[in-house]
Amino acid sequence: MRVFEQKRIVLGVTGSIAAYKSVTLASSLTKAGALVDVVLTDAAAKLVAPITFSSVTGRKAYIDEDLWKVDDHVLHIELGEKNDALLIAPATANTIAKMAQGMADNLLVLTALASRTSPLIAPAMDGGMYSHPATQNNLDLLNKRGVEILGPAAGHLASGLSGIGRMLEPDQLLGHLRCWLGRNGILKGKKVLITAGGTQEPIDPVRVISNRSSGKQGFAIAQAALDQGAEVILITAPVALSLPIRARVIPVKTASEMAEAVFSESDDADILIMTAAVADYKPTREADKKIKKDQGGLDAIQLERTVDILKEVANSRAKKKVGPPVVIGFAAETENLLENAKSKLENKNLDLIAANDVSRQDRGIGSDKNQVTLIWKDGQTRELPVMDKSDVSDELILEAAKLLV
Ligand code: CTP
Repeated sequence: MRVFEQKRIVLGVTGSIAAYKSVTLASSLTKAGALVDVVLTDAAAKLVAPITFSSVTGRKAYIDEDLWKVDDHVLHIELGEKNDALLIAPATANTIAKMAQGMADNLLVLTALASRTSPLIAPAMDGGMYSHPATQNNLDLLNKRGVEILGPAAGHLASGLSGIGRMLEPDQLLGHLRCWLGRNGILKGKKVLITAGGTQEPIDPVRVISNRSSGKQGFAIAQAALDQGAEVILITAPVALSLPIRARVIPVKTASEMAEAVFSESDDADILIMTAAVADYKPTREADKKIKKDQGGLDAIQLERTVDILKEVANSRAKKKVGPPVVIGFAAETENLLENAKSKLENKNLDLIAANDVSRQDRGIGSDKNQVTLIWKDGQTRELPVMDKSDVSDELILEAAKLLV
């Protein structure tokens, strides 16, 4: 996760009970390498002590009193001018109203006024306060001024009622923030299509033929592309992972559903990266009732080939001159890694392939780590060390972007 490294984030915290969740957010940002300056309003400091924030960020957490300290007399200018992002989470109706009016009566709204970057805000309040015309008008005004409004979500509220007004969860805010930081990245304006997970080919209503793919590598690539400002379409077979924020996700189950989704999205895509483990065979027919074990039918399942999605896209690109200028595959191998990967690169007419040894337990399928060798169609190769899947993804996305120019 390089997107946060050494980034200066001002995290404004205001007086909603969701303030306790902002501690997790501050901690996650810090772990990801950001320098987090927390600014609390008086009300926020009544709910969560500043020391709780400074303990997780390793930096001072500011309160209004700091504004009046002699040596820090331009604190709001310093915080406003030097940040890479200013996120106010939670943002109460009161702070939203103050910002809409350009008020400057506490350190946080002063900092927002002085900020060179346009703030992001995560409203949190009771449903009635959120839907009140005053709040809605204030949010409209801020939105027109370029302030990004994140959420709120629907659900249980502190009042005990249900409605719209819950602050987004820290992970979701992190996802929005990283996209925002990457908005002018090298893939800005580019459409990147990524497939992930192992397809499921039904035998009957309860049984499928599938594989061990976890989807982790594909999801990490989707995130790496988002971090570089791309529009990301993630076509995924069923996986147990949380969805990357701001990716357009198309859920599929079978190889043919995945093929249909890829074909319909690929004409105007700039990059296609097929990370999915697509079943090569599927049962010739799906029984409409559960097959009983004593009645036979499970001892010999007849199979037929599925479509080779990558090959189809690359071939139609060669014939019709439409399709992604950059097509990348993954080669999952347990033997003769480079040789097999090279022949897939040629057979499928790809620009680049990531050769992936899937025989090891400590990397590859299911693991958070991976080790790949990149092979280009001109024969050039680059062996990457064992890395986190997120770091493999950053590298792959940089190489994919180079192929675009
Ligand atoms: N792939 C595809 N359509 C298929 C099978 C695979 O698009 N029906 C893609 C995969 O997403 C991957 C690449 O082709 O990017 C290589 O997949 P892999 O499973 O390694 O190889 P296969 O082509 O299936 O060949 P084999 O199973 O014989 O190794």
